[in-house]
Amino acid sequence: MYMLNIFSTKNLICLFAFFVIVSCSKKNSGEPEVAASVISNLVYSPNSLSLQSGVAGSSVKPSLSGTLPVSFSISSSPTNSGITIDSEGKVKVASTVAAGTYNISVTATNAAGTVKFDNAYSITVSASAIPQNLSYSPNSITISQGTAVASAAPSVTSSTSVSYSISVSPASPAISINNQGVISAASTLATGIYSVTVTATNSSGSKAFANAYTITVNSNSTASVTYTNTIQAIIQNNCGTCHINGPQVKFDSYASTKNNIDAILSRIKLAQGAAGMMPNGGTRLPQETINSVQKWKDDGLLE
Ligand code: HEC
Repeated sequence: MYMLNIFSTKNLICLFAFFVIVSCSKKNSGEPEVAASVISNLVYSPNSLSLQSGVAGSSVKPSLSGTLPVSFSISSSPTNSGITIDSEGKVKVASTVAAGTYNISVTATNAAGTVKFDNAYSITVSASAIPQNLSYSPNSITISQGTAVASAAPSVTSSTSVSYSISVSPASPAISINNQGVISAASTLATGIYSVTVTATNSSGSKAFANAYTITVNSNSTASVTYTNTIQAIIQNNCGTCHINGPQVKFDSYASTKNNIDAILSRIKLAQGAAGMMPNGGTRLPQETINSVQKWKDDGLLE
């Protein structure tokens, strides 16, 4: 019978030819060859990451099935802006992410649509063993010479107790640190700018925090200038030959100097070489000396 001959050579050839025609006609139809396929089987291997806080990290690239290209977004529980995903699907952890466990769901999108993979990845950030994040607020102070000063205690991240040491640039024995991390400057500290590097140590180790604190000591400008403690000597040394012992207008007493203060100031403030600059024919006084004479007037021309 005919039915019994279905696998005859003749029929098999016909069948083969039929399939070739069908598949050829599909390819030549001009329509999209294959519809985009939905994303599935998104997998990270490994699917978790353990980090110490203060250290950045990244997952591997995920494997997945589905038509490319694929774009990614993530949500983290709990949320953290330091956890992101790149264009390849790698999960990135910034060094700022706080200690904790974060469950990451990844949403992948292609031409066929969007698929969410819940808890595709997890991140565990453990508190760092050595001290981290030491900072002073404020982290600098400006004082006048002769003033003792102390910083606030620093904030520092450490699971165990912390001890402190410092190195100061330029070195000075007048700057020290106590058990709480409070930096002190003695009143003997010379003028200058001191940069303090603080080393915090706990049972796991040490970390140096460069330039954690800055102390600026300006020359002392708080004590009042008087005729006796400052001005008399300036006049004698710089003006005396002509204005005490010579023929010029006399500045040989508190009263005579005080009465001429405006003329004295205007003359000593003139530029080097300017007509009328005093000392006459000499070198302009150092600015510090001029400032002292001005301060004498500002302080009320004290005797
Ligand atoms: C080498 C001599 C000499 C020295 C030193 C000198 N002066 Fe004179 N000073 C003069 C002569 C000369 C005049 C008058 C000419 C003039 O007014 O420029 C004068 C005038 C003045 C006048 C104007 C007085 C007036 O009432 O007209 C003042 C103020 C003055 N000197 C201040 C000073 C001061 C302050 C110093 C020191 C920092 C000083 N002089 C040092 C020679 C000197």
